[in-house]
Amino acid sequence: EKGGYDHFMLKEIYEQPSVIKDTYRGRLLAEKGIVKLGGLEDYIEKFINADRIIIVACGTSWHAGLVAEYIFEDLVRIPVEVEYASEFRYRNPVISENDVVIAISQSGETADTLAAIKLAKSKGAFVYGICNVVGSTISRETHSGTYTHAGPEIGVASTKAFTTQITVLTMIALRLAKAKGTISQRDFMLYLRELDLIPDQVEKALKTEDKIKEIAAVFKDVRNFLYLGRGYNFPVALEGALKLKEISYIHAEGYPAAEMKHGPIALIDEQMPVVVIAVKSDHYDKVVSNIQEIKARKGKIIAVVSKGDTAVRDLADYVMEVPKTPEALTPLVTTIPLQLLSYHIAVMLGRNVDQPRNLAKSVTVE
Ligand code: M6R
Repeated sequence: EKGGYDHFMLKEIYEQPSVIKDTYRGRLLAEKGIVKLGGLEDYIEKFINADRIIIVACGTSWHAGLVAEYIFEDLVRIPVEVEYASEFRYRNPVISENDVVIAISQSGETADTLAAIKLAKSKGAFVYGICNVVGSTISRETHSGTYTHAGPEIGVASTKAFTTQITVLTMIALRLAKAKGTISQRDFMLYLRELDLIPDQVEKALKTEDKIKEIAAVFKDVRNFLYLGRGYNFPVALEGALKLKEISYIHAEGYPAAEMKHGPIALIDEQMPVVVIAVKSDHYDKVVSNIQEIKARKGKIIAVVSKGDTAVRDLADYVMEVPKTPEALTPLVTTIPLQLLSYHIAVMLGRNVDQPRNLAKSVTVE
């Protein structure tokens, strides 16, 4: 049942190229310039005329929501707020029928997310669901939605659910940008083609596993990790840290790279590994200077770099390479080495990777 893998988590990590394809199959026709989601077509006007989009979710699904905030604001120019479902529902939020709410949940059973949906509906908002489990409670409670089609995710640590959620959210953003006219035809076609290439790029990222294993062996006994990223890769830093915490029980914090100087930099010494997502992007030079600041304080740098990178490679202690893709799509590839890093550290520490202590696959308590 684990398909020859030692753990479900590893199997699910390796399924990503094929499940990402399953997610966009029949929905993305790159060469024809078509992206179409059944659940969305009737509500395009509702989305593009919305005052704002509010995304509610928990855990890894919340991180996918944060990635979506960047891509929606970039491509569709609609203000987006991303809320922890649990905070949203207990806070008397300002919400009206002009808001569109997107609820993201792998299981479709998370109690806090479900309660947030009910609250939003009671205020008249339109609620769109992105779920993996077909027929789940959240998929039934939302007005419309899109399934991720990632197949069953057994490992408690979410992996393929995250990348397929981002795939769906990216398709939604592209469809809306096209309808609203906020994207040029050239860029639209470019994104469609690049999205269609993502399964191959993920495949290439998976090929670096041996190198990642070596890095895992070096750092497995440390007690703290810092993860840094900017822009689209800030949520990936959060997700990388969550993955490490959940399955290895090592304390890890994700931070926007530029916030480091406002506090966390005090933690840096020769003991502290800092995972920096430093792929080619609009912020590349800034990330390079963040790395220099860490090096000056003797922190150990593990950098996620774009293929062919030299500047970061020269500065970093260890690098994990990912293929090049437009910045908006980089989370789909930069996530891969971080999943593998946590996995191997947890295995080396003898942890119960698929069923970490104190955690359940779906959190149905509030
Ligand atoms: O099923 P959901 O996507 O609603 O679950 C949300 C979180 O409970 C979930 O992502 C959790 O954080 C995972 N264990 C992360 O790996």
